[in-house]
Amino acid sequence: MIEGVTTEVVAREDVARRPPSAPLSVAILTNGCKLNQAESEAMALELATAGCVVTDRAGPADAVVINTCAVTHVAERKARHLVRLARRLSPRARIIVTGCYAEAATPAVVCELGADVVLSNGVKQRAATILLQNIACHGAPVPSGRLRTRSFVKIQEGCNDVCAFCIVPQTRGRERSVPTVEVLHRVGRAQADGVREVVLTGTQLGAYGRDLEEGANLVGLMERVLRETSVPRIRLSSVQPQDVTPALLGLWGDPRLCRHLHVALQGGSDAVLSRMRRRYTAREFADAVDLIQRHLPDVAVTTDVLVGFPGETDDDFAATQRLCREAGFAALHVFPFSARPGTLAARMPDQVSAATKRARVREMLTLGDELRGRFLARFEGSVANVLFERKVRENAWEGLSGNYIRVVARCEESLENRIAAVRLDRREGRGFRGTLQPLTEAS
Ligand code: F3S
Repeated sequence: MIEGVTTEVVAREDVARRPPSAPLSVAILTNGCKLNQAESEAMALELATAGCVVTDRAGPADAVVINTCAVTHVAERKARHLVRLARRLSPRARIIVTGCYAEAATPAVVCELGADVVLSNGVKQRAATILLQNIACHGAPVPSGRLRTRSFVKIQEGCNDVCAFCIVPQTRGRERSVPTVEVLHRVGRAQADGVREVVLTGTQLGAYGRDLEEGANLVGLMERVLRETSVPRIRLSSVQPQDVTPALLGLWGDPRLCRHLHVALQGGSDAVLSRMRRRYTAREFADAVDLIQRHLPDVAVTTDVLVGFPGETDDDFAATQRLCREAGFAALHVFPFSARPGTLAARMPDQVSAATKRARVREMLTLGDELRGRFLARFEGSVANVLFERKVRENAWEGLSGNYIRVVARCEESLENRIAAVRLDRREGRGFRGTLQPLTEAS
């Protein structure tokens, strides 16, 4: 038995009854962060290379892999829902459940929901192999049928910090970096597949290299990715304020780096930050954002805000609102505090009532809309390079600018997976409707 794998509990028949020549259909369903997306993408690639037909949509399939999250109780609820849904849609499929919910819940509970196999995060990268060992897959490599615009490349996982609210150190373990040559290989492979944007992803990107050879770090890795690959766009998934240095920001002299940085604030009062065991003060955080904005005037700085942490007073909450206004974030991701079993915060006194949390979430979302509006207003009438992802209506295509602005533009020919200059004419929803400028980039 493989470590971290529960015993299979059910032998399902219809997989065995599948005509031997039929390719295996596999649905990979993913919740949670970009790290989960990166890992699901790697599984999809392995399965497609082995001749399976892979989809990311729930529906009847021979096998289903569910890559789950446990960051809040809502994420856990979604994980349970997905397992039940998969079992309902594919009563006899082989169902593998992995990810952070699989790690946080007991295997018996996950099997009870409908899983056949439960894989811990530690063996997740073997999910595709385990599936293929269990079910024969006959077929030639199957192209996805969809152009892959963006690829999430894992460079690191795990976290050695123990923030009081966070379950990730329990579910992901200690920091581990992907060797630099492997990262370069993954970026190169994505580029060869026609991917136009690579998102370098991890739990704690600033920790990159600490466990590798002397001197390896995030800046060095990014220098090599920029020097040794030519994927048109590279995005960093998130950084901590303490990672923001002139050396890091100096890399943005290369226009291939997207002018978008996600820096998780969580709280704007020093008292709350200290109880959260975050490693910065409100002032240090504000200074880091200021440094980013001075280096990169058109940058989008986005953040996570956790409201209703135990003991959060009205004054603490007001301090968070003040800091968000001062920082001029381009978008806020707002989460109500959710007590995670086994974390320090779950046992803290002065838990905030559900009603207060709800009210503060509402206020914070309103502030987020206001900040988003102010950020967008700065770009009205300007021209941005947009990576187009999909058709949204007849002759209308939607994509994302480097600084995280959703744009829809009209064009009679396909813009899918192309980068094009667009004038941002008119606000629409959380982005812009724009006019395509003469296509400048061969694609
Ligand atoms: Fe969720 Fe695990 Fe990512 S808890 S946010 S899937 S590291």
